[in-house]
Amino acid sequence: MAESLLVETIDRVATLTISREQRRNAINDATLRLLKKTLEELVSADVSAVILTGAGSKAFSAGADIKELAAQSMRERIASTDLGQSVGDMIEQYPRPVIAAIEGYCLGGGLEMAMCCDYRVCAEGATLGLPEVALGALSSWGGTVRLPRLVGPARAREVILFNRRLDAKEALEWGLVNRVVPQGTSLQAARALAGEVFANTDPGIVSIAKGLLTHGNGATQRAQRHLELLADMSVLASDALQSGVTKFTDKK
Ligand code: COA
Repeated sequence: MAESLLVETIDRVATLTISREQRRNAINDATLRLLKKTLEELVSADVSAVILTGAGSKAFSAGADIKELAAQSMRERIASTDLGQSVGDMIEQYPRPVIAAIEGYCLGGGLEMAMCCDYRVCAEGATLGLPEVALGALSSWGGTVRLPRLVGPARAREVILFNRRLDAKEALEWGLVNRVVPQGTSLQAARALAGEVFANTDPGIVSIAKGLLTHGNGATQRAQRHLELLADMSVLASDALQSGVTKFTDKK
């Protein structure tokens, strides 16, 4: 059987493509396991950024695989939710920036994975939503936690309780995506962005900055500032700062 996750690294940018086009890239347990394994391997790889996308033009992902869910025992369903949550956390905590390149449907677990990314490029014509409640299910791969953080509590209620779907323009207005691009160009735009921004940036510094944003979330402001100070103690003495400052002053 063909792998449901394709991995390709070009110029130190790894692209992970959910590849189940016939099922609108619905995420089954095998895909979750591949995502987990790939992210584990990528932690020690020489990459500056990761892109998560879906195969073809119809969907980033239509969410968890409903057909697989229907055939699972209760124990398997719980294990699957646990795995979905872990993969989301791994994306969020992956020590380099992760960019979602969205085309077409980005629903349920698909949107939940996209929300774990650091940046979302969304093509015109996309549809975003969390329709699980209408299906008798829950957005339990972190959806009820991450959506309100991104769009605020009132709008998150509208999406989750009222099954509100957003087009690309609305998603941009709501702060759910960072940029809208013409249909069919989201992957190209994500690769260009990763190349422009991270090719010459020290990966260690990006990783520390991402760690502060991710792990500081939920701590008191005082604790967050203390974390910043501790992180700064190593960064201020680093070669990366020295070379960044030299680059700036030499340009002048
Ligand atoms: N899980 C499993 N299979 C899925 C799927 C999912 N989340 N989403 C789509 N598919 C399958 C369909 O069953 C269909 O399979 P078939 O060809 O064997 O019948 C195939 O993908 C194409 O889907 P189809 O509904 O015909 O495509 P569409 O373009 O008309 O509609 C969607 C696309 C995404 C709007 C629609 O498929 C849909 O609503 N999917 C479910 C979304 C959802 O509720 N996600 C939350 C999951 S918890």
